[in-house]
Amino acid sequence: MNGIKIVTIGGGSSYTPELVEGFIKRHAALPVRELWLVDIPQGEEKLRTVGALAKRMVEKAGVPIEVHLTLDRREALAGADFVTTQMRVGLLDARIKDEKIPLKYGVIGQETNGPGGLFKGLRTIPVILDICREMEELCPDAWLINFTNPAGMVTEAVLRYTDRRKVIGLCNVPIGMKMGVAALLGVEQERVHIDFAGLNHMVFGLAAYVDGENVTAQVIDRLTDEQAGMTMRNIFDQGWDKDFLKALGVLPCPYHRYYYQTDLMLAHEQEAAQKDGTRAEVVKKVEAELFELYKDPNLAIKPPQLEQRGGAYYSEAACNLIDSIYNDRRDIQPVNTRNNGAIAGIPGESAVEVNCVIAKEGPIPLAVGELPVPVQGLVQQIKSFERVAAQAAVTGDYRTALLAMTINPLVPSDAVARQILDEMLEAHKEHLPQFFKPVS
Ligand code: G6P
Repeated sequence: MNGIKIVTIGGGSSYTPELVEGFIKRHAALPVRELWLVDIPQGEEKLRTVGALAKRMVEKAGVPIEVHLTLDRREALAGADFVTTQMRVGLLDARIKDEKIPLKYGVIGQETNGPGGLFKGLRTIPVILDICREMEELCPDAWLINFTNPAGMVTEAVLRYTDRRKVIGLCNVPIGMKMGVAALLGVEQERVHIDFAGLNHMVFGLAAYVDGENVTAQVIDRLTDEQAGMTMRNIFDQGWDKDFLKALGVLPCPYHRYYYQTDLMLAHEQEAAQKDGTRAEVVKKVEAELFELYKDPNLAIKPPQLEQRGGAYYSEAACNLIDSIYNDRRDIQPVNTRNNGAIAGIPGESAVEVNCVIAKEGPIPLAVGELPVPVQGLVQQIKSFERVAAQAAVTGDYRTALLAMTINPLVPSDAVARQILDEMLEAHKEHLPQFFKPVS
């Protein structure tokens, strides 16, 4: 094989320059020959704009990567080596509904957690399963690297409802936590190691090390300072309760705030929705500004403004992963993969987010054993939710969706679950054909 063929589905995303920058930086070790950016007709204008920027970036860097832009997914997939997915079914308008509708019922409205996460899964999973079917036909040996949220639920669905084993779910939360610990302790990122285990957006740092020395207690101590900064751009940070975190004894990820500080996060969301709009409304403005920048024919680098997005640095994770598979590096990276017994109590065939050795044959999860007692229950509950949600996405069965909504820990009762479910099903009808099959 002479060079690598990468296909990025959702290529018109404002995040694409991150990925392009990552491939340019690594070109000597990771010789990408073709990068195919694929989008849907509604995304064509963005695809043209971001694609033109990608071409300028490649040209300026002087690397021989051919950038192809297409609306024809099948054409792109033929003969691919790696397929990355970063799409948003229903675009940001659907996310706005995911955030706003639950808030009306006094429930967290969030992209990947609670009712919003459920509906993003219901819209996304059928599309991902279609992509898997096309990959079986057009590029059966390619790796599917999924960033599309909710990444844990999507990986679970691929593992349970397709024969595809070459699938990896990827997220920037672990790399963000690593950078956060490095910044808190004032050391270089390369010196930090974290033992990650859990699920996507539900991952814990079981222990943190600097140069091999366990610094978990020190990090927890600093994390309880207000505005410690260990969060993502999209998640409000108000420190942690000192006694609680010390008793917990592990590092939470930024998304745990929705579970351990639900009332505070809800109040903040409600206030923000009134003042500046929900996160997706803010992101819509940021995107419009980014695309204005991208249109500038003199721009040939990733603009720093992209770091305002919560997904900043995801290309580090993506490119490191692809590089380690391609070069059989056998280094350790946290990814979403088949548990295979690594975390006790979670089914072997379920997706978990865990440190893995990344080799040519894919991720090999490192054994964790049992999670600490205080976090076991929440992780199990979210896994149950993800499994039921994936089943609902595949079957389009109302009762299964109601079950998923009700068992989500952010939803207070079956009655509220039903109200939110009914309103959201109606609001997202266009993107949920499986729930609205014509009566024959
Ligand atoms: C985090 C998460 C991503 C998520 C992003 C949202 O980084 O890990 O999964 O998509 O935030 O960021 P945004 O700027 O869209 O709110």
